[in-house]
Order: sequence, then C-alpha cells, then structure tokens
Amino acid sequence: MRILVTGGAGFIGSHIVDAYLAEGHEVAVVDNLSTGRRANVDRRATLHEVDIHSRELEPIFAAFRPEVVNHHAAQASVKVGQADPVHDLEVNGAGTARVAQLAVAHGARKLIYASSGGTVYGDPESLPVTEDHRIAPRSNYGTSKYAGELYVQLAARTSDIEYTIFRYGNAFGPRQDPHGEAGVVAIFAGLMRAGQPCTIDGDGEQRKDYVYVGDMARANVLALAAGNGLVANIGTGEGTTVNHIYRVLSEAIGNSIEPRSAPPRPGDVRNFWLDCSRAKAALGWEPTVSFEEGIALTVASLD
Ligand SMILES: NC(=O)c1ccc[n+]([C@@H]2O[C@H](COP(=O)([O-])OP(=O)(O)OC[C@H]3O[C@@H](n4cnc5c(N)ncnc54)[C@H](O)[C@@H]3O)[C@@H](O)[C@H]2O)c1
Repeated sequence: MRILVTGGAGFIGSHIVDAYLAEGHEVAVVDNLSTGRRANVDRRATLHEVDIHSRELEPIFAAFRPEVVNHHAAQASVKVGQADPVHDLEVNGAGTARVAQLAVAHGARKLIYASSGGTVYGDPESLPVTEDHRIAPRSNYGTSKYAGELYVQLAARTSDIEYTIFRYGNAFGPRQDPHGEAGVVAIFAGLMRAGQPCTIDGDGEQRKDYVYVGDMARANVLALAAGNGLVANIGTGEGTTVNHIYRVLSEAIGNSIEPRSAPPRPGDVRNFWLDCSRAKAALGWEPTVSFEEGIALTVASLD
C-alpha cells in the first residue's frame, strides 16, 4: 500500500513509518523538520522536506497518489500553542483541513489523524475518560487538535474517504526530544544522563496515562484494515505517577542524584487516564509494553 505520513520525521510519526515499512508498505514522508529530524526517517521511506502549507505539497500527492494519508504533522507543544495561538491554529487546524482536502482530491481511501486525548477533554469529570466524555479543552493546542478532528470528519461526510482518529495519551519511548516540554520521561532521562537533578512539581503523586510509542504505532497499522469512522483513545487505562517514573528511570539509568521539588504547576490536571476499550473492540488493539518494559527500551536506545 502507498502511505503518506505527515510528520513522519517526528517522534511518533517516525515509529509509524518504521511499522509501515516492516509490513512491506511503500512510505512517503512530508515533514518541514521544524521539530522532526532527518535521522529519524528510515532510508527506505522518501522524505519530502516540505511544509503542509506549502505549494509543493499538492505535486507530492499527485505523484505519489497515496492510498492512505496518515496525518501526524502538528504544532505539538501546549506551551507554544499558548504563546502563539494563531500559529498553533494555522498548523493544527488549517493544516489539517488542507491535508484532508488533498487526500480527498487525490483519491486516498483513508485518512488517519493523531488527536490528543490528554487535552481535548479538559478536566476529567470521571476516570477513566471515555470518548463520550464532554469536549472541553483548556488550551489552544487542545482546541486546535479538536478542530483538526472536525475537518477530518467533514472530509469523510462530504466525500468517500474513510477516517480513523486516535486520541493519544502521553507518548514515551525512543526518539522523544529531551528538550521538549511535554515528555517527562525524555526530560528526566536527559537530565539524569547529564548528571543533573530533575525537578518534580508538587508532591509527584499526580498520575497521567503514559503509553509506549511502539504500541501507538501498532494502532496505526491496525487502522489500515479496520476502524473506519472510529474515534478512539490510545493509552493504557492506568495512571502512572511522576514519582514512579522518576524511580524506574533512576534505576534503569543508575541515577543517584536527589530530585528537586517545585510548587505544583497552576492549572495542571492531577489525575488523568483514558478508557481504551473502544480501540480494543474496534481494532483488537491494546497496549502490550508495560511502563517498566517501555522505560528499559527507551534507556537502551540512548546508548
Ligand atoms: N507526544 C504525545 O504525547 C502526543 C499526544 C497526543 C497527540 N500527539 C500528536 O501526535 C503527533 C506527533 O507528535 P510528536 O510528539 O511525535 O511530535 P513531534 O514534534 O515529534 O512531531 C511532529 C512532526 O511534525 C512536523 N511538522 C510540524 N509542523 C509542520 C508543518 N507545518 N509542515 C510539515 N511538518 C510539520 C515536525 O517537524 C515533526 O516532525 C502530533 O499530531 C501531536 O499533536 C502527540
């Protein structure tokens, strides 16, 4: 199958590219390398260093004629989205509208879209959070990622294209940027390896849903053959505390430096995890890599 992966030089997208190549698919990547890296892209995939807003995008669709378009390119930082809401919406809202339009115009049969389970629901009314939870993002990023969902569904409603939308929990694994603001695992691992202290906000007992990137990539493989019209959470259904992350990573890396503590972050949600039974029912997907196994794989990749 010919598959175009936007954002395929990024953290999650590059694992999806690897998973598609392993299944024997032909893969093209569109990425402007704003946060992604050329080195993340397997040589068997064709990398087009192109912005999703650029005029150069349409000829790529015309020449490659993707059967599936997997849209992972995004402004992926909550912090950047707060500082520059217009840029955030341009990339995540308008950019998704454009990718969806080109996918339809060039005859793709399916569009797969990466949304954000951690931000579109806002403060959880109950746990675990199901897909039917009210949508009430508390950030520009969560709002623009949801706008992307609406454009994907609009394309499906007004053409023959199918879609799967994934609402991801907090991804972790190899290739996550240690300088990014979202990935506590990558940030802690980077600091520990540099012999510097980590900072734990509040009491460290806040729990979020951390899902291993290889499991996320597998969901994107399953969506090639199933899950049409599906909006599904992709997480573990469990919360992991920051203190636990710190302990497991310290052991894996051999860190003995004590962490610093900082006041709780204002507005931070204390407990958040996703119900993922819909992805299991529709795709036969469930996470297979435990948090501890995922940390071992992540640390091994750093050597
Ligand atoms: N990391 C997470 O925990 C998480 C959680 C929920 C959703 N997501 C979503 O998953 C996707 C991938 O996230 P990630 O963590 O791998 O982030 P990432 O920053 O590593 O990947 C995004 C990729 O998109 C590229 N990109 C950005 N703007 C572009 C543009 N205008 N044109 C072309 N390419 C562009 C970047 O260079 C990068 O390679 C994003 O859509 C993000 O919103 C991530």
